[in-house]
Amino acid sequence: MNMLSRKTSQDSHGQDSSYFLGWQEYEKNRYHPIQNPMGIIQMGLAENQLSFDLLKSWLRRNPDIVGLKKNGVSIFKELALFQDYHGLPALKNELVEFMEKIRGNEMKFAPEKLVLTAGATPANEILMFCLADPGEAFILPTPYYPGFDRDLKWRTGVEIVPMHCSSSNGFRITSSALERAYKQAQKMNLNVKGVLVTNPSNPLGVTMTKTELNYLVNFAIDKNIHIISDEIYSGTVFAPPKFVSIMEVVNERISDNNIWNRIHIVYSLSKDLGIPGFRVGMIYSNNEKVVSAATKMSSFGLVSSQTQYLVANLLMDKKFTFKYMEETQRRLKRRKEMLVSGLRNAGILCLKSNAGLFCWVDMRHLLSSATFEAEKELWIKILCHAGLNISPGSSCHCCEPGWFRVCFANMSEDTLKIAMERMKTFTDSTNSAVKGSNNSY
Ligand SMILES: Cc1ncc(COP(=O)(O)O)c(C=O)c1O
Repeated sequence: MNMLSRKTSQDSHGQDSSYFLGWQEYEKNRYHPIQNPMGIIQMGLAENQLSFDLLKSWLRRNPDIVGLKKNGVSIFKELALFQDYHGLPALKNELVEFMEKIRGNEMKFAPEKLVLTAGATPANEILMFCLADPGEAFILPTPYYPGFDRDLKWRTGVEIVPMHCSSSNGFRITSSALERAYKQAQKMNLNVKGVLVTNPSNPLGVTMTKTELNYLVNFAIDKNIHIISDEIYSGTVFAPPKFVSIMEVVNERISDNNIWNRIHIVYSLSKDLGIPGFRVGMIYSNNEKVVSAATKMSSFGLVSSQTQYLVANLLMDKKFTFKYMEETQRRLKRRKEMLVSGLRNAGILCLKSNAGLFCWVDMRHLLSSATFEAEKELWIKILCHAGLNISPGSSCHCCEPGWFRVCFANMSEDTLKIAMERMKTFTDSTNSAVKGSNNSY
C-alpha cells in the first residue's frame, strides 16, 4: 500500500527537465573568479542583480524602516500581530501606483482589485484554481517559461495546451496559431478556459505588439474564455517599442461585451526590483468573484507583514523608485548589448529584443542535425566543455530545435566577458558556419 499521496509519489513536478539538470551541475561546480575560475557560469537564471547598490544605499538611508519604526516609534507589535489577508493598505496603494508608472501613467489601477500573493508563482496557480477545474485547459504560446508546467498544472490538475509559434515571424502570436491550438485541445477533449501569455515574453525578451494583443482579445471574445497576462517583466523594457499591457488594449475596447471581466494580470517585484526572495507578487483582476476567491486563497501564502512594510516604504519613495527603474533599464540595455556583441563575435545571433533579463539565442547552425536530441547534445557540450549553463529551447517547449535562452543580469560584467570568451573558444573549436535570419541582428 502506498503510504503517500499520488502527488508526492509521482514525479509530476517537472524538476527532472533539463532546465533543472543544468542547475544541479552548476551547484556542484559553481564559477568563482578566484576560488573556482574553471567552474560553470550560471546563465540559466532570470535574476536581476544589476542595481543592488541602489537598493542597499536606500536601506542605509532608511534605518528606521529597516528597524520597523514609524515616525521614530516602534511598530513591531503591530506588524508581528498583523495577518489580515487583505494586506497592508499602504502597500496595495503603492503597488497600484507603481504599476501605473510602469505603464506610462496611461491607465488607472484600483487597490481593491489587487490580491497580494507571495510572488508571481502562487499568483498564477491561484488564478488556475479560480478559473479552471482539474482536467480543463489553458493555451500557452511557446516558447514559454519552464516553471509554468509546475506552477499551472502540478497541484491544480489543469492542463496546458501549447500554441506553437515559429521563428519565421519572430515567434509572434497569430490568429491562426491560436485557432490551431484550440482545435488541438478539442481533439484532446479538453475544455479550454483561457490563454496565458507572458508580456514581455520570457524567454523571448520582447514586448507584445498591439496587433498581437488584439488577436488575443478577439480570440477570447470569440471563444468566451479568459486571458491571463503575466507582466512580471513589464519594468524591464529598456528599448522601444514601449510596453503595452493587455489592460490598455481592453480599456480601448470597453464596448466589447464582458471581456473586461475575463482579463487578469499577474505581477511581482521579483524581476523589476530584483527581490525574488522577498516574495511580493499580485493578481490584478476586474472580476469581483475572482478577486474575492483569490484573496481567500492568498491566506495559504501571505507576504509577511515586515516585508509588506519595508516594500510599501520603498515604493513610497517615488524619487528613488523612478531613478531605480530608469537606471536599471539603462544597465539592462548595456548588458544585453554586451551579450549580443559577444555572441555575434562567436558567430551566434539573437532574436531582436527590447526587454527582460535574457536573450533568445539562435544556435541552429551549431546542431549536428535539426533534432531535439542534437539540441540536448549541444546543450551538454556547452555546459561541460564551455562551462556555461544556458537553457535549451526544448525546456521552454519551443517547437524548433536549436534555440537557447541565455541570461545576462545575474552576474558581474567581468563574468559576462569571460562567458563570451568561453563561447568564442567553443564555437571556434566546433568550426561551424553562421546562418542569419531576418529576425536576428
Ligand atoms: C514569466 C514568469 N512568471 C513567474 C515567475 C515566478 O516569479 P516569482 O519569483 O515572483 O514567483 C517567473 C520567474 O522566473 C517568470 O519568468
